[in-house]
Amino acid sequence: MDNYTVKDISLAEKGFRNIEWAEQEMGALLKVRKEFSSEKPLDGLRVGMALHITKETAVLVETLRAGGADVAICSCNPLSTQDDAAAALAEKGVKVYGFKGESIDEYYTFLRNVISIQPHITIDDGCDLVSEIHTNYPDMIDGIIGGCEETTTGIIRLRAMEQDNALKYPIVAVNDNMTKHLMDNYYGTGQSTMDGILRASNILIAGKKVVVAGYGSCGKGVSMRARGLGANVIVTEVDPFRALQAVMDGFRVMKMVDAANEGDIFITVTGDKHVLNEDVFARMKSGAICANAGHFDNEIDMEYCSREAESVTRMRDSIFDKYEFKDGKTLFIAGEGRLVNLACAEGHPSQVMSLSFCGQALAVRYLVDNRDALENRVITLPEEIDSRIASLQIEALGIEIDTLTQEQRKYLSSWSEGT
Ligand code: NAI
Repeated sequence: MDNYTVKDISLAEKGFRNIEWAEQEMGALLKVRKEFSSEKPLDGLRVGMALHITKETAVLVETLRAGGADVAICSCNPLSTQDDAAAALAEKGVKVYGFKGESIDEYYTFLRNVISIQPHITIDDGCDLVSEIHTNYPDMIDGIIGGCEETTTGIIRLRAMEQDNALKYPIVAVNDNMTKHLMDNYYGTGQSTMDGILRASNILIAGKKVVVAGYGSCGKGVSMRARGLGANVIVTEVDPFRALQAVMDGFRVMKMVDAANEGDIFITVTGDKHVLNEDVFARMKSGAICANAGHFDNEIDMEYCSREAESVTRMRDSIFDKYEFKDGKTLFIAGEGRLVNLACAEGHPSQVMSLSFCGQALAVRYLVDNRDALENRVITLPEEIDSRIASLQIEALGIEIDTLTQEQRKYLSSWSEGT
């Protein structure tokens, strides 16, 4: 097996510049790197990663290596690799496997390349690495200390594994950190999803009816940013509380089949499958744009579109395709239905990834430090670690905040003072 498979190793110089630029915005993670460099908490450990290979992920990889880890990485999505960042990692001696546009077969070959280093720790985004190890390499599990999961969809799969007693090593749900889902999912997905749609289509958002499916951490961010660009936003939901939140936030809420008649742009961000399906497509107006920001490419029923379309034309290199159907209807789909923010843009801005990846780095350390005490479950990082990540970022931003006085501390932990 080669030490790397990347699109073009000569892109490394460009990758180094992009990684340096990302580091400018990732002060909190650089503080963790400094600590790792002096304490070497990961000495002698192998870390296998399936994450989007981006400039920000490269900063995480270097942080883990600074802590003493040997790292192998593949992508967690066939369209999300930044080829320059992958080349830069390869040039630095990291085992890296992935390129933008890899096939599904290549995707699984690369996943197996990572597994072949026999990792002590796995880091996943979507649970494909954990699932592949549990399904096809169960003998390896004894040597694994634990794993970390980055995203909501991965956590849903892991909790299902836990429920079935199928989970055989502990996993930290990094997504459940407040500094992850309330920041990355909200501000990150909010901004980068609109960035992806804009880079794909360059369409004017002002005045458009944008339908956002799912009002969770990500959907709230997307709805807010779409409104900020002047869109008339409609939200669809299946959860009554989330639907109510959307109403209170001032959005119109309705069933998807009704929204289908009105929308100009449809954005799915539910973690669910076939949210845009045959019935919905049938009601959409010709020329509507569909994009997905949820983890898997099944939120938009792409199989239906590929099967039923008479022709598919790549309209723009930014991965923006026109599907023409037998009845004369035309739909435009960005990023082949994969995460639009990574397929058509650069994913989340570095600053927000700094928070998420502090979570990953400190979760790896937590697993190593507590290796004998953890059950084979999906676990949440202690609140102090989450809070420390926020402090690191506040510090990195040069902001100072107040601290509780002795009197206030006592007051907030007592029940005796009242009216
Ligand atoms: P969440 O669980 O907070 O929100 C999902 C929402 O979708 C829930 O309120 C749920 O009720 C709703 N929903 C489920 N099925 C639906 C349906 N058929 N129609 C309408 N609404 C439906 O999850 P979160 O954190 O917002 O993540 C959503 C997806 O985005 C996941 O797949 C996650 O992995 C992914 N994600 C993508 C990122 C990106 O970079 N594009 C970043 C972070 C997460």
